[in-house]
Amino acid sequence: MSPPHSLSVPIPPSTRAGDTPRRLLITAGPTHEPIDAVRFIGNRSSGRLGIALADHAAKHGWAVTLLLGPTSQMPSDSRVIVRRFRTTAELDALLRAAMPACDVLVMAAAVADYRPRTTPEILGGKFKRMNQTFTLELEPTPDLLAGVAATKRDDQLVVGFALEPADRLLESAASKLHRKGLDLIVANPLATIDAETIEAVVLGRDGSQHRTPGAMTKADFAPFLLREIESRAACCAPRGPAGASRT
Ligand code: CTP
Repeated sequence: MSPPHSLSVPIPPSTRAGDTPRRLLITAGPTHEPIDAVRFIGNRSSGRLGIALADHAAKHGWAVTLLLGPTSQMPSDSRVIVRRFRTTAELDALLRAAMPACDVLVMAAAVADYRPRTTPEILGGKFKRMNQTFTLELEPTPDLLAGVAATKRDDQLVVGFALEPADRLLESAASKLHRKGLDLIVANPLATIDAETIEAVVLGRDGSQHRTPGAMTKADFAPFLLREIESRAACCAPRGPAGASRT
C-alpha cells in the first residue's frame, strides 16, 4: 500500500442543499508500523465499523471523509471521499489537515501504541535470519485522538472508541473519555476487533450511557451511533427560520 501522496484532505460540501453543512471525518482500519522494508507490526482491525458508518452517513446527507488504513474493505457509497494511510505518522498528518474542516470526528482506527525504532538504512533493507534471539526496540506513538481533541472547537464533536476487556469495559472507557477530552466514547469488548458484530455501550461526557440491544452487525450499529451523534452535534441542531442554530 502506498502512503498518501498529499496532505490535502478535501471535505465535500454537504449534500443537503439549504441545510447546515454536516461534515463527518472518520478514521478506520489498522496501522502498519514498518520493522524493515518488508515487515511490519499491525493489528487485526478490519475497518468494517468505520466503513459502515461512512456509507450510512453519506446516504443520510452527511459529507463524509474517510481516512482508511491498510485493509481490503472499502466503502460502497461513491460520495465518501477516501484517503489512505499506512502508519500512525501518516494518519497523524492526515488527521491534523482534515480536523479543522469537520464538524464531527469519529476515531474508529485501531492506532498502534508502539512502533519499531527504525533508521533509513533499516527501512531500506531486510533483517537477515539469525540463529539467536532478536530484540526489537519499540517507541511509543503519540495519542492522536487526545492530540486532536485538545484542538477541538466548541462547535465540533469528537467521538472515540475504547477496546477493552469485558470485565473493565465501562470503567476504562469512562476514564479514556475524560482523559482524552472526548464528547462520546464507544466502549466495546476486545472480541469486537475483526468481528462481524458489535455489542457496545456509548458513553457521553454528560454521564449518559446507551447500550446496544445485544450484539448487532456493524451495518446495524452505524445508524445507532449516528443517532447518538445527531442528537448531540451542534452542527445538527434544528435550525431557526433565519438559519440560526437554536440553543
Ligand atoms: N488512539 C489514538 N492514538 C493512539 C492510540 C489510540 O488516537 N496512539 C485512539 C483510538 O483510535 C481510539 C482511542 O484512542 O479511538 C482508544 O484506543 P484504545 O486502543 O482503546 O486505547 P489506548 O489509548 O491505546 O489505551 P490502552 O492501550 O491503554 O487501552
